[in-house]
Amino acid sequence: MAKILVTGGMGFIGSHTVVELVNAGYEPVIVDNLVNSHPKILEQLTRILGFKPAFYQLDLCDEHAVRSLSVAEPDIEGIIHFAAFKAVGESVQLPLKYYHNNFSSMLNLLEAYYGKPLNFVFSSSCTVYGQPDHLPVNENAPVKPAQSPYGNTKQIAEEILQDMIASGSNYKVVSLRYFNPVGAHDSALIGELPIGVPQNLVPFITQTAIGKREKITVFGDDYNTPDGSCIRDYIHVVDLAKAHVAALKLMEKPDYSGYDVFNIGTGNGTSVLEVIHAFERATNEKLNYQIGPRRGGDVEQVWGDVTKSTEKLHWKAELGIDEMMSSAWAWEKYLFENPL
Ligand code: WQD
Repeated sequence: MAKILVTGGMGFIGSHTVVELVNAGYEPVIVDNLVNSHPKILEQLTRILGFKPAFYQLDLCDEHAVRSLSVAEPDIEGIIHFAAFKAVGESVQLPLKYYHNNFSSMLNLLEAYYGKPLNFVFSSSCTVYGQPDHLPVNENAPVKPAQSPYGNTKQIAEEILQDMIASGSNYKVVSLRYFNPVGAHDSALIGELPIGVPQNLVPFITQTAIGKREKITVFGDDYNTPDGSCIRDYIHVVDLAKAHVAALKLMEKPDYSGYDVFNIGTGNGTSVLEVIHAFERATNEKLNYQIGPRRGGDVEQVWGDVTKSTEKLHWKAELGIDEMMSSAWAWEKYLFENPL
């Protein structure tokens, strides 16, 4: 069974990907420093999988620890690299923290395993597109100047990987540009676990519905969109997790070499107000929301052209906005009854 290192595997997308790797017959090895997760997620994964997955608690910025990991786990066949700081707003306040963490962790990993013919999946983001000139945005669209240090770390990391491949390394690399991951596993045992006040829309919606937040503010309804609120391409986290398995399968093909990049979204744009109404419809819960001022740094509208992912990655999102909302709500209710 092929062993796959999953850095950040205790996080939101990482934990869901661990489940899909096992479903696809891989053996995941989780590496996480738990700075953005909770140790109990390992128990939750054990309940879902029926066995306890291998887990190393370490900081990938610790070069010695990463080299020790590569000695302890010499026979991995692939790496899925999620581990990174990802809060857009925080990255503006603390740019050095973001550049140090997001680059050192990836460079230590690539150097520790350098020379082995590994398949490397990189967690990138649609933030590299900024506000695209044309929608839906495809992978050939120009990368715009990043709107935040977080977005810049994704852009520069993609360049680092391409330079590494161009230098003749025997890594194979796929970068996946995520749109907006939301929802939760249908067991409601894992899901998005924001620390403190949620920055992202859907966890704020579910915490408002459960009563943890008094109301949700729609950041602007004066945009040049049909209902005035921003548009995003929301994708169910389980569909997103399956895209990582598809990326490994692609790189396992003898005719795959080098570097490629794929949009991982649904190809549909949904506005903030449409998400709120979809949540109310899917859960039969009334949401207390108000319209407020725009949030600095927000892109007006972005959704992905996923033709390349469908045709070359042989992957397509299957779950719709209702499943995204109902699964996110089931997870929030689980957390309310079973605080981690
Ligand atoms: C979505 C929309 C907000 C909260 C960011 C990163 C992206 C990824 C996901 C890491 C926007 C609006 C939000 C609220 C609101 N991060 N909103 N009220 O900013 O599109 O993407 O998070 O992987 O890389 O850029 O996601 O969920 O924060 O916002 O109106 O209380 O919801 O203005 O239009 P975003 P988001």
